[in-house]
Amino acid sequence: MGRVFSGVQPTGNIHLGNYLGAIKQFVDLQDENDCIYCIVDLHAITVEQDPKELREHILDVAALYLAVGIDPKKSIVFVQSKVPQHAELGWLLTCYSYTGELSRMTQFKDKGKGRESVPTGLFMYPTLMAADILLYDTEIVPVGIDQKQHIEITRDLCNRINNKYGEVFVEPDGRFLKEGAKIMALDDPTKKMSKSAANELSKIGLLDDDAKIKKAIMKATTDSEGIVKYDMDNKPGISNLINIYTAFSDLSVEEIEKKYDGVGYGQFKKDLVEVLINGLKPIREKFHEIRNSDELISVLDDGAKRAEAIATEVLKRAYNKIGLGY
Ligand code: AMP
Ligand code: TRP
Repeated sequence: MGRVFSGVQPTGNIHLGNYLGAIKQFVDLQDENDCIYCIVDLHAITVEQDPKELREHILDVAALYLAVGIDPKKSIVFVQSKVPQHAELGWLLTCYSYTGELSRMTQFKDKGKGRESVPTGLFMYPTLMAADILLYDTEIVPVGIDQKQHIEITRDLCNRINNKYGEVFVEPDGRFLKEGAKIMALDDPTKKMSKSAANELSKIGLLDDDAKIKKAIMKATTDSEGIVKYDMDNKPGISNLINIYTAFSDLSVEEIEKKYDGVGYGQFKKDLVEVLINGLKPIREKFHEIRNSDELISVLDDGAKRAEAIATEVLKRAYNKIGLGY
């Protein structure tokens, strides 16, 4: 039994990559651990947001968390900006960070590419993320592999402060998913599926309707061989589809290869459409059931209260050790 913390940004429709790469693990972890799942809205404003849309997206992600099976009786679910200790500890950690290490973050480099000046919030993103994690004495952080660098800097900040002041924070570990967990764009399997991609057919959102699912899969880029075989290096398109297939069915990669031996991509894709439609339907239905319910708000209010109780204690410990206040 360990303390687990993770967060998802409330930006745009959650897609298969977010689900298979991160959120699905959240559900699996909650039986054995003490889990806290956050909607990180303070992180979202590091890039431009429309206020109305942001508000909607916060509640969308919250409802999706519950729709995929996060159980608020077992886990804490809350919105970051409702617990002010995140911003407070974020500032504190910023004071122990260096511009050199923050400049080396690939996410910062990617998002700032081609700009002469970059918003400071984007630059300090990792210290806020470190605060999210350290604020709850977190031991395990389930995230996609693209977050590895952010976990490393969190550990560095933790150790830097602990070495200076004695045990202030608990050192967290990332829990990354294996190769199969990275879901690639359907139109270009050399890139990862991304919320910000312009081509709608490059991704499948958890709330997309059946027609969109069908269109995106049937048009997905494969290769001209026509052999359903898992080979991420040489056949990234079909391998990506096999990853999605196996995640939504009882079949292993080998069983899928065997089932479609000599059959070709057409039938494989048709079946995958069916598997996906059946897999996503209950999620979509549950989402619509809770999205506008009072239950959702009371789950979030209750979650914020429980989160704040923990955060207050940890922040107090940090302030005391560092000598803040009186
Ligand atoms: P983001 O949408 O970037 O806030 O990502 C939310 C979570 O989903 C993070 O843990 C990411 O690592 C994960 N994630 C995002 N895109 C993908 C993808 N294409 N494949 C696997 N995991 C992903
Ligand atoms: N940076 C993460 C992402 O883009 C989101 C995030 C913010 C997060 N704070 C976190 C993830 C704390 C895990 C723990 O996906």
